[in-house]
Amino acid sequence: MKTIYHKIDRLNPDPQIIENAAAIIRQGGLVAFPTETVYGLGANGLDPNAVERIFQAKGRPADNPLILHIARRQELSGWVREVPAWLEPVLDRHWPGPLTVVLRRGDGIPDKVTAGLDSVAVRLPDLQAARALIRAAGVPLAAPSANLSGRPSPTTAAAVLEDLDGRVEMVLDGGACDVGLESTVLDCTGDCPTILRPGGVTLEMLQELLGTLRQAAADDADAAAAPRSPGMKYRHYAPQAPLLLFRPEAIEGEDGLLAVIHQALAEGKTVGALVSREVMPLLPAQIKAFSYGSRLDPAATAASLYQGLRWFDHHPVDLIVAEGVPETGIGRALMNRLAKAAGSSIKDCRKSGE
Ligand code: TXA
Ligand code: MG
Repeated sequence: MKTIYHKIDRLNPDPQIIENAAAIIRQGGLVAFPTETVYGLGANGLDPNAVERIFQAKGRPADNPLILHIARRQELSGWVREVPAWLEPVLDRHWPGPLTVVLRRGDGIPDKVTAGLDSVAVRLPDLQAARALIRAAGVPLAAPSANLSGRPSPTTAAAVLEDLDGRVEMVLDGGACDVGLESTVLDCTGDCPTILRPGGVTLEMLQELLGTLRQAAADDADAAAAPRSPGMKYRHYAPQAPLLLFRPEAIEGEDGLLAVIHQALAEGKTVGALVSREVMPLLPAQIKAFSYGSRLDPAATAASLYQGLRWFDHHPVDLIVAEGVPETGIGRALMNRLAKAAGSSIKDCRKSGE
């Protein structure tokens, strides 16, 4: 298949290009499109055959459900059994935006979208180009991130093409995504709202509106034992080299990031580092290093994380070491994705003298 590629203005996309893309969706095809979080791989969410093609193009396990993307908030009630009253202020504040809500599933949604679950995940994206496409298609779009399963989510059209060129009908290039990490997934089906996946709408923002809420265990083993969000049990966002993740306070010191680099170099290994601008000058010269920006700007770090992980696929090394960030605000989402890329091992530095 030849993939058609179009550049678009993400805030004011050409209606003719959007109409061509919408026609592909209506005919059961696949269109990769920008959102404010990451690029999505969209298909008609009401057509089981089109949805099946998403799973094939990505190599995605069939038991991992998809998010249904809508263009207007009022469409939500058509796809779910009930919208709880407590959720309305959250939607007032954060929709459109990087927040996905999981609710009891209504009628008319194919089993393939929800992987047979009794719930459905729904998101109203903020980016104009995304909503223009959904509106023009006239159907909700089932859309996972537009990467091959197990690869970092794409935050640019180039990253989409790297994974999916020849596997999808069209790629719309709206430039780099602003948030750069996938949406927060909030489970609203139980007694207590639960964050299944941390994202751009943070725990702190939701606590402000909801008071108490739960966070699902970030630990993969727990998630595998009781997968509330089936996607959590898979190793995600994995770069090709093994990745060791260090907490931000574990840079210097005897088991810290710098010590591990020197040890690996002494063993003759090639080493890559994914670190803040502040740590860059501390690295030995022979390291292949990608800076994700300043420690003082967590949002910019989030926006460049996946680009950094993909950078190492083009700069192969035996080992990648990554500097973590404090786990507050968007930092929780960042550490969640980094921990998954690392296969969940986070290194603490032993403090000197202990
Ligand atoms: O920001 C985003 O959410 C991006 C853009 C394209 O919108 N989409 C995205 O989709 O990240 P995907 O498929 O890569 O991740 C969807 C996550 C998975 O972890 C999946 O298990 C979870 O949402 N999910 C979907 N439906 C669910 C449901 N009914 N119950 C619990 N978790 C669900
Ligand atoms: Mg994904």
